[in-house]
Amino acid sequence: LKKVKKQKVLLMGKSGSGKSSMRSIIFSNYLARDTRRLGATIDIDLSHVKFLGNLTLNLWDCGGQEAFMENYLSQQRAHVFSNVGVLIYVFDIESRDVDRDLATYVNVVSALVQYSRDARVFVLIHKMDLIQPSLREDVFDQRAALVRRKTAEAEAVMRKHQQQQLLLQQQQQQQQQQQQHQHPHPAGRPSPSPTPEPSIHLQLFATSIWDQSLYKAWASIIHDLVPNLSVIETQLASLGVAIDADEILLFERTSFLVVSRWTSREGDRNPYGDRFERMSNILKSWKHTCSKYTGTPRNAEQFSDFEYKMGAIFSMFATKFTTNTYILVCMPPGEARFNSAKL
Ligand code: GTP
Ligand code: MG
Repeated sequence: LKKVKKQKVLLMGKSGSGKSSMRSIIFSNYLARDTRRLGATIDIDLSHVKFLGNLTLNLWDCGGQEAFMENYLSQQRAHVFSNVGVLIYVFDIESRDVDRDLATYVNVVSALVQYSRDARVFVLIHKMDLIQPSLREDVFDQRAALVRRKTAEAEAVMRKHQQQQLLLQQQQQQQQQQQQHQHPHPAGRPSPSPTPEPSIHLQLFATSIWDQSLYKAWASIIHDLVPNLSVIETQLASLGVAIDADEILLFERTSFLVVSRWTSREGDRNPYGDRFERMSNILKSWKHTCSKYTGTPRNAEQFSDFEYKMGAIFSMFATKFTTNTYILVCMPPGEARFNSAKL
């Protein structure tokens, strides 16, 4: 029996920071330029994304206008922040009011620690295309350091608050028990204090909808959520060895995110570390092109096999693999080897 795993994913950040844009590109076949038409999200836009058959993402795209944010943090606090698997927080790098953005972020992290202490946090420093390329790394590093510090502070404050609450509860219980003449704890010995929780899992990415950076960030968010990934990874490795490949990438059907990959020792020498997200971007464009030429609507599946051969250097092909995946196989040169691998 396949066990279906459900994951609640919160997508949060200031209004206009680009949350709905990235969601539409990754999961709804939008092109980057289509996102200019998106209106502001009203309250929460819920969607369920089926992923590799046995993972369902419950995506909560939370409209970022101030009135909505206040509402999530107060009236809807428990509803929004309970049972969260992942929080994706988007910062607009062009925003003028950094202090205010950070203050809101701190409030969100506090609520998350309070209601979903094991949730993972991914912070995307977004719209990096608007920063001059030579400055990007520095700008990102500075902002990332600031976010890390704020996260730790928010976490510390919330944990202290929780411990105080707990202590208060224990004192009240003890008082009640004393009133009832019961003494479960010997006098003078405090009840054991709760063990300290590990600190929050936080990862940061620089992203833009105008290049492949978005795929890199989302692939790593998704990677940790897919169940049985180690099984898939082992099988991919056996396949790679059997067909004598240099590299195999496995893409999820709708998003074209790389869910798993295997690289031979020879393939490991490839100096292009961003090739995975680049291929996501290229194959997704390829699918759009296929749909355009056959006149099918964008959401319909239309993917013609993709082949690329570069003489004596390498060759590769991409094709549909299982119901929910596409595969890309990269081979050393050799026509016979290539054909047998495809077969
Ligand atoms: P709310 O729903 O109000 O919370 O806003 P949102 O975060 O969903 O913003 P949305 O996705 O609607 O994007 C706002 C604008 O930002 C759109 O015009 C997008 O085209 C633009 N945008 C999104 N991502 C990027 C990016 O990486 N770079 C640039 N330059 N613009 C972007
Ligand atoms: Mg939106």
